Amino acid sequence: METAFLGSAFQKEHYPKTRSPIVAFAGRSNVGKSSLINRLIGRKRLAKTSSKPGRTQAINFYDIDGRWVFVDLPGYGYAKVAKQVRAGWAPMIEEFLENHSDLKLAILIVDARHRPSELDRQMKTYLENCGIDYRIVATKSDKLSANQRRRSIDRAREFLGVNTIVPFSAATGRGKKELWHIIREVCTHG
Ligand code: GTP
Ligand code: MG
Repeated sequence: METAFLGSAFQKEHYPKTRSPIVAFAGRSNVGKSSLINRLIGRKRLAKTSSKPGRTQAINFYDIDGRWVFVDLPGYGYAKVAKQVRAGWAPMIEEFLENHSDLKLAILIVDARHRPSELDRQMKTYLENCGIDYRIVATKSDKLSANQRRRSIDRAREFLGVNTIVPFSAATGRGKKELWHIIREVCTHG
């Protein structure tokens, strides 16, 4: 798979010019968005990851095989970054989601171990209100036993009001095939 970093932007005037269908990855800070992207494309470090929350502060664009564009959105909801920075995130994410006609799919990432937050629920509702096709993925599922995973995902489905949540792990690759299947399906027929 051929991948290339296309650039970072804080506002739409600076978005790189792209033509392929866009898949955007959203979720709270440090949930594992960049790691999930890297696992999907089989690269260790294309998208920068960090154990410190707030690593991805701009909107990052990646070309994937000249067929898709993956967009790593800044994480939301991390309390310890400066208030001003934090306040800038929601408008940045919203400006992107509302202004990109090539956006075909949003992957909303939650932590398999925890109940999703109110912000996750708001993001899901926001995507629905914008009419953006989305799927919810629960990452870090390697940290749970099969039983815990089932219970946690049921709880998250109920909290978010969705039928399906895809379990994923950047550590083991669990869910990778299923997620690719969804991306191909939605970007080809959606
Ligand atoms: P920001 O860009 O700061 O919002 O973070 P992010 O959502 O991009 O998270 P990132 O991919 O940087 O991962 C955060 C931390 O979680 C890193 O220490 C990763 O190694 C770890 N991590 C991410 N995904 C997984 C996973 O599936 N399993 C395990 N065990 N650890 C993970
Ligand atoms: Mg990141």
